[in-house]
Amino acid sequence: MDTLYDVKIRSMKIEDIDPVLAIEQDAFPNLFPSTNFRTEINRKISNCIVAEIPKDFLINNSNFQYRNGYTGHHPQDKFIVGYAVTWEIAGEIHIISIGVRRRYLRLGIGRKIMHSIINESIKNSNQSITLEVRPSNDAAKNLYKKLNFQFVGRRVKYYSDNLEDALIMTLDLQKQNTN
Ligand SMILES: CC(C)(COP(=O)(O)OP(=O)(O)OC[C@H]1O[C@@H](n2cnc3c(N)ncnc32)[C@H](O)[C@@H]1OP(=O)(O)O)[C@@H](O)C(=O)NCCC(=O)NCCS
Repeated sequence: MDTLYDVKIRSMKIEDIDPVLAIEQDAFPNLFPSTNFRTEINRKISNCIVAEIPKDFLINNSNFQYRNGYTGHHPQDKFIVGYAVTWEIAGEIHIISIGVRRRYLRLGIGRKIMHSIINESIKNSNQSITLEVRPSNDAAKNLYKKLNFQFVGRRVKYYSDNLEDALIMTLDLQKQNTN
């Protein structure tokens, strides 16, 4: 696919919430309730971003169906393929949620969203970026490891659905190259 050059990372708007919710519900099927993106967009400490492409390039790929067939997408819109929500607390960035549309996985979109968060955080002189990840989530762990996040701790029985621990991963921005 030659579309990755066309992936734009921008702030989330109210009209993005439907497709973002569809991505979140598919990416985190055990999450209840869903994130209140309307609140997040207006929350002072929160930064909500989306990854957008000009059109749904993989629309005819029938390998994948969303539950109930619902993608949250209005055909006339540009197509939302990922999102992230971060909070800034005391100079540190916390990744609250990140997800990529299932049909667009493994195309570099997650990495692009993360690069945007890292670059923005460096620009804003934040000290570090922290997140929690399930030990069973190899895709996410690999993504973060590739970006130099380090394992710094564990929260025991953090996830209420299966009482899985959370691994805490941090990127120390003081040690990052600003290029
Ligand atoms: C984690 C997630 C955001 C990654 O998004 P993505 O766009 O598919 O990731 P990318 O294509 O940018 O991949 C970047 C790197 O991550 C790792 N990775 C991504 N998917 C992987 C998989 N299925 N298995 C192993 N490693 C994987 C690889 O190291 C990859 O680099 P490579 O392609 O050069 O090998 C995506 O899998 C997702 O939305 N998962 C569901 C929600 C979730 O778990 N969010 C994170 C919660 S902590």
